[in-house]
Amino acid sequence: MEAEKKKQIRVWCDGCYDMVHFGHANSLRQAKALGAYLIVGVHTDEEITKHKGPPVYTEEERYKMVRAIKWVDEVVEGAPYVTTLETLDKYNCDFCVHGDDTTMTADGVDTYHLVKEAGRYKEVKRTAGVSTTDLVGRMLLMTRQHFYRGQREYEVGKEGSSTMGQDSAARSPWTGCSQFLPTTQKIIQFSEGKEPKPGDRIVYVAGAFDLFHVGHLDFLEKARAEGDFLIVGLHTDPVVNSYKGKNYPIMNLHERVLSVLACKYVSEVVIGAPYVVSADLMDHFKIDIVCHGNTPIQPDSETGEDAYGIPKKRGCFKFLDSSNQMTTEKIVERIIQHRLEFETRNQKKELKEIAAFEAMKKSQLLNGEA
Ligand code: CTP
Ligand code: C5P
Repeated sequence: MEAEKKKQIRVWCDGCYDMVHFGHANSLRQAKALGAYLIVGVHTDEEITKHKGPPVYTEEERYKMVRAIKWVDEVVEGAPYVTTLETLDKYNCDFCVHGDDTTMTADGVDTYHLVKEAGRYKEVKRTAGVSTTDLVGRMLLMTRQHFYRGQREYEVGKEGSSTMGQDSAARSPWTGCSQFLPTTQKIIQFSEGKEPKPGDRIVYVAGAFDLFHVGHLDFLEKARAEGDFLIVGLHTDPVVNSYKGKNYPIMNLHERVLSVLACKYVSEVVIGAPYVVSADLMDHFKIDIVCHGNTPIQPDSETGEDAYGIPKKRGCFKFLDSSNQMTTEKIVERIIQHRLEFETRNQKKELKEIAAFEAMKKSQLLNGEA
């Protein structure tokens, strides 16, 4: 009976989904699990600028990124900032789902007060350790503390990561970022967990896929169209750093794994793929075709080898034109150009959240709640 009921439930989520990351994807995964059909409303650039400050991605880019998340069934463009009952009814949604942090308008009004009052609001757990705010912080501060180094990374992260070099005592309880701790459970939740079927044509691509963006998305869509099962090889942090330099990658290997796994075109991910696509790797995964998009290919930093020399020799290498010029560096440039606006935006958001948290604690004390 319960299962029958769940089959008909339509769930609504909304947000900015700027620089969409695996924290957003994880909230959508949890929301989808509460029903059968998930509709996601995405706000316009104008609305976000008014309430929060300018987004990094344009609305067209944000709509496209959300559409490609594997738990999303439908995207509503230009959804209102304050979620209304009319919106839920218009799309025939039973309730609205949001992470357990607060979202406020420019005037400090809870954007979910209407659906909360109507009992049509449910909360899922926000993913600790990842936020747009923190990613922007990494770019501006040019830090490398996020590189994956196991225990050492965790210790460093606890002391000094993220938000704009502010004092950690002034962190928001919701978005003030602690270090993300990767677990096998998270990977299982994000993964398809499927093997290729007999006769499937297997496609392999590799790269950094740092700050997973619309260029990656257009490329992966084309790569998937080359076969039935798409494997994405992700280079380790030191390998990416060896060819990108500075503080790249901005997202560490574990974070990149989840971002790529959340994409609906991806069937499987190799966690720490070799830079040179080897015969072993190709035979192990029974790869039919290896593809690369429209970015330059650098020779191996140690041996000078062509990364795609072997698939080329085997006659199974193909260039794909993603027709998209976006790169991770361009995103970082956008942020650096608007540095002041982002710093103000992030500080404002954090202060608003701290104030809301204090008010919440006070009212809980007054009501005698623990
Ligand atoms: N979300 C989450 N875990 C995160 C980040 C976001 O569960 N680490 C959820 C939010 O709770 C919300 C949805 O993703 O339900 C959309 O969030 P959005 O409106 O885009 O804002 P934030 O991502 O919270 O903004 P920021 O990262 O700048 O703090
Ligand atoms: O640069 P990175 O290693 O993240 O790229 C991963 C893959 O995505 C590469 O094959 C690259 O050519 C492709 N890509 C693309 N179009 C873009 C950005 C990346 O085809 N705009």
